[in-house]
Amino acid sequence: MFDRLKSQPEDPILAMMEAFRADPRTDKIDLGIGIYRDAAGTTPVMHAVKTAERQLVESQTTKSYTALSGDPAFIKAMAGLVLGDRDMSRIAGAATVGGTGAIRQGLDLVRLARPDARVHIPDPSWPNHRAIIQAVGLTCVTYRYFDAETGGVDIDGMIADLSAVRSGDVVLLHGCCHNPTGADPNAADWHRIIATLAETGATVLVDLAYLGFGDGLDADAEATRQMIDTLPEVIIGVSCSKNFGLYRDRAGVVLVSAADADQARVVQGNLTTLNRLAYSFPADHGARTVEMILNDSALRADWSQQLSEMRGRINALRQALATALRDRTGSDRYAFLGSQKGMFSRLPASPDEIRILREEHGIYLIGDGRMNIAGLSQEDIPRLAQAIATVCA
Ligand code: LMR
Repeated sequence: MFDRLKSQPEDPILAMMEAFRADPRTDKIDLGIGIYRDAAGTTPVMHAVKTAERQLVESQTTKSYTALSGDPAFIKAMAGLVLGDRDMSRIAGAATVGGTGAIRQGLDLVRLARPDARVHIPDPSWPNHRAIIQAVGLTCVTYRYFDAETGGVDIDGMIADLSAVRSGDVVLLHGCCHNPTGADPNAADWHRIIATLAETGATVLVDLAYLGFGDGLDADAEATRQMIDTLPEVIIGVSCSKNFGLYRDRAGVVLVSAADADQARVVQGNLTTLNRLAYSFPADHGARTVEMILNDSALRADWSQQLSEMRGRINALRQALATALRDRTGSDRYAFLGSQKGMFSRLPASPDEIRILREEHGIYLIGDGRMNIAGLSQEDIPRLAQAIATVCA
């Protein structure tokens, strides 16, 4: 049996995480996997999470199973966080194993409905998008997204490609903080994107892995909310890994906005079955912690305040790196770093330059040039800027 197995290709992000761990140099800089680090270089457990977890340990009287689609109070709280005070009668939802689980369940739902659907992803996108789409047996195609010259969105190219999408296809959009480029559409761009999608009849899959890391919780949800208001079918994969700092606890939710309440009920049944087929009951600890925070005004305020400090820190790192690179290169070539959103930006560097940064300077980026700005420290910036200015043509 197993002699028939082929070796699987390495995930480029996880491979870089392993390579960094194995590097004995003490001054190495990790700009690989998307995790937030504070000024001390640690990825903290957020205060509100610690408090909620303590309360949970004290108050929980049973570990018996919860609902197959997850704790309903968690799904409701997350739907409120993402969608605001919208009517929830046509929304179905299930707790998932992190944001990846939400994307997986969303795509499995698509496969159950339309096994022939093509899923259009931005070029570039998070590498696991294509991998999951292909693993569930759907066809993956790309649309134009990133303008490498400006470091912004190629909005005309994107609109031209989205106009050609067929009804019955799926368009995957990063709701905010595009991974890997940090280039997000502006409000006018989103307006054009949503109007174009409304004409195609395509179903939209929004990946919301970085809610709160761009401009704020409501601002980052705005495009998704407009899609819910305008488009008949939207699937949203939401992660609590980054914004609640719950990485290893794997809390996420898939929300589906259907044409009407009857359809939402059928979708709900399908999401529940998908959970049963994949792992029965989803993990509860992280989800319940999130639910406790969102439903307690003091904990929620504390969490939101700490998240806004994290966002401020990432933006300060962006500005500092852009300034250091301007000083060292005497050009505005890297000014885009200051205006992009979220954890990531993509360095315009060749594979050889990225290899030299890693081998000679101990600076770990993903092979496509993606760097996790949120992994930087202010102390690293002079050395990083000097290395980039020296190595990159
Ligand atoms: C990333 O893009 O680095 C994160 O989403 C972590 C992951 O699972 O790839």
